[in-house]
Amino acid sequence: MKLKVSVIGTGYLGATHAACMSTLGFEVIGVDIDAAKIALLSSGKVPFYEPGLEELLQQELASGRLTFSTDLRAIADADVHFICVGTPQSENSLAADLKFVDAALDAIAPICKPGSLVVGKSTVPVGTAARLRERLLKVNPKVDLAWNPEFLREGFAVEDTLKPNRLVVGVVNDAAEAKLKEIYKTNLEANTPWVRADLPTSELVKVAANSFLATKISFINAMAEVCEAAGGDVTVLAKAIGYDPRIGSRFLQAGIGFGGGCLPKDIRAFMARAGELGADQALEFLREIDSINLRARQRVIELVRKDLTDNLSGKKIAVLGAAFKPDSDDVRDSPALDIAVQIAAAGATVTIHDPKAIEPAKKRFPTLNYSENIEEALSGADLVLHLTEWKVYRELDPAKMKSLVASPIIIDGRNALDREAWIAAGWKFRALGRSEI
Ligand code: UDX
Repeated sequence: MKLKVSVIGTGYLGATHAACMSTLGFEVIGVDIDAAKIALLSSGKVPFYEPGLEELLQQELASGRLTFSTDLRAIADADVHFICVGTPQSENSLAADLKFVDAALDAIAPICKPGSLVVGKSTVPVGTAARLRERLLKVNPKVDLAWNPEFLREGFAVEDTLKPNRLVVGVVNDAAEAKLKEIYKTNLEANTPWVRADLPTSELVKVAANSFLATKISFINAMAEVCEAAGGDVTVLAKAIGYDPRIGSRFLQAGIGFGGGCLPKDIRAFMARAGELGADQALEFLREIDSINLRARQRVIELVRKDLTDNLSGKKIAVLGAAFKPDSDDVRDSPALDIAVQIAAAGATVTIHDPKAIEPAKKRFPTLNYSENIEEALSGADLVLHLTEWKVYRELDPAKMKSLVASPIIIDGRNALDREAWIAAGWKFRALGRSEI
């Protein structure tokens, strides 16, 4: 008999995990307190943009294996319960807010069937899993808790869930590991590396990985600052150091830095937790990583002022991109949107285009101007800002775009456009970490 799986929390992580577990042949019940979300998912619609997920969801709903409910009691006969709720940054501090994780655990604890396994997937401060396990066993001594962090990237969520580059399981005993091996049998057969760890290490793996990625991005953005000062070119520098296999070329794309629902909040929560543990000095460098990252946004705004005027009032600026990265409609802590908001606050008339993120951006900043049409956004602009590297922007014809704007100045905040092509078409081209030519 195949195990029955429940997924608690059907946001980004949970909705993807539920659909993917179903493709592996498990019977899956996804539950969430948000009735609107459950109604959408049940009707085969994904409440956010993630390539390939909607098709997968519809396929799995049709298979009859995947169902959704707002009634938590629906999880009662599942063998494995995945907790996939959010852990946002607290309103008043850098720490993670654990109210959703705690509430999910408390809600399922009395109703999990004997012998079932609760598996946390949310990103939590180290120590949370052990605390939750104790709390669970007090209410329901016949179940167990393990931790299994996820590493999925937005835009590649389905691929990363079905074919992860490693599986990390934090367990207290062999039985929990055996059950997780049953869940991930397909991956094990495909030789996906399997790392068994204790509970704290499994929690730390996730934040350590995200801290490393954030560090790599801020490192190259720090090099961009030095390149600007010295007249160097950070894109050439990144290419050259990336050939060293110990360094590697990925995550060395200099620009306006990292955003999204994970990297910024995870490094801050990690610092906060290290402080509580008395290890704050060890993560002091992450404060600098955060500062370099936020500084990149200011450096773009300085470039805008340099090319226009200190007084941006009345200037027309077209912003290409609102999402925190391409192939996503997520605008949480988006560097692109943050820059657009700051420029608008300085008096410029800003028109924002994004292939997918206009609606979510509008919800956050309803008073800004948005356009569904790139040409309309560029029309009459005094300056164009390229802030999220969607493919469609790389495919623009610089000559045609020049005929639309009032003044052909473009700032490439992602170092992703073909500089020579834009210059050849008569544009003044600026980028972070590259001197003017
Ligand atoms: C990240 C981790 O990659 C993933 O493993 C984890 O599970 C969740 O957090 P995600 O938030 O989807 O995933 O985005 P990611 O692809 O890591 O990019 C994060 C940010 O860094 C984006 O804003 C992106 O534009 C920026 N970035 C990335 C750069 O500025 N330069 C780079 O070279 C790479």
